[in-house]
Amino acid sequence: MSDVISSADARPVRAGFRRLAVAAAITSLVVIAVGGATRATDSGLACPTWPGCFTGGDFLPPITGEFVDGLGRNVTGINIWLEHSHRLVAGLLAVQVAALLVWVLRRYRHVPGLLWPVVVAAVAVNVQALLGALVVWNLVQAELVTLHLGLGTATMVLLIFLAARSHGAVATAGLRRPAEPNRARLWRLSVITTAMLWGQILIGGHLSGIHGGLAFKSRPLLGIFTIGPITIEEEAINVVHRYLAYAVAALVMVLAIRIKRSVDAAGGPAQLWARVSAGLVGLQIVLGVTNLYSDLSYVSVIPHLAVASWILAALTMTTIHLCDRDDLGSAARTPAPDRIGAGV
Ligand code: HEM
Repeated sequence: MSDVISSADARPVRAGFRRLAVAAAITSLVVIAVGGATRATDSGLACPTWPGCFTGGDFLPPITGEFVDGLGRNVTGINIWLEHSHRLVAGLLAVQVAALLVWVLRRYRHVPGLLWPVVVAAVAVNVQALLGALVVWNLVQAELVTLHLGLGTATMVLLIFLAARSHGAVATAGLRRPAEPNRARLWRLSVITTAMLWGQILIGGHLSGIHGGLAFKSRPLLGIFTIGPITIEEEAINVVHRYLAYAVAALVMVLAIRIKRSVDAAGGPAQLWARVSAGLVGLQIVLGVTNLYSDLSYVSVIPHLAVASWILAALTMTTIHLCDRDDLGSAARTPAPDRIGAGV
């Protein structure tokens, strides 16, 4: 890599690329929400073939009528179109990521912070399509669905990172770990909280896949504080999901309070996103309890998954805004050759 900032590299990343990265990040959130609706309404096998709905090339399945899914159960046009919409929105995401890949390879392949997120997202989207097919062919196995959810949410995080990274100068707007010790501590807490939240999403996905959500429902207070006895996997995953939720919620609150009290992070976008995360976690716990109260009605199960992905997005934004970054102005004013490529 050259050790001088060329005039082309000091320019901002193209607005079109930025917009496409933001659009892809938003599409990934929609894919997750529609995937959650597909699952909550038990529509995952409503299209018994892949990639077309009833035959390999059936991309406009019927809306009305009674049909039979991959398990021989009766399904309606709503089930079919939920599952099919999930595939269509995922297809849109695949096209957006393919366009980003072509763009990054043509213009920005010398910028690791733009190249790698797109390459990894492109691989992930293809693996997701394959997992989606395996889910259908294996008739929705719990482990595959959890893997599908985990990779989908991780791809969303990557695309948010890409969208944030593409705001600024091509070569110098790297995001890096903060240098200032207090901010570095906040950043570490934010990374740990984000990672734990992602783990919680995987555990929630598995809980749903093994149908363990109501394992302790008959206990006092809907079993929201019940710890045992644990005799089967459903009970174990149920306890882990609830208590990890309380731990994650506590961490998110501590993060939001510490950022608010911090001299140099208070009032900035990190504080805003930490507040959003805290508010969403509160809502998520209410939705979790409503899941129990309503015996897993889709009215709470669908938003419970969507809100989980929003918390992950908000925590990712918090972490990103705690990073140090060089803005275009300072880079243009004081070219610093040793900084090039130091961030991502
Ligand atoms: C940080 C907080 C939480 C997060 C991020 C979270 C996330 C999730 C996710 C991603 C799922 C899988 C949904 C799906 O695949 O459709 C799930 C399922 C579930 N969660 Fe949570 N959850 C949280 C807190 C809670 C709490 C506090 C409770 C109850 C007290 C709860 C109860 C449930 C239940 C019962 C299910 C199973 C739903 C089903 O079988 O479809 N969750 N959670």
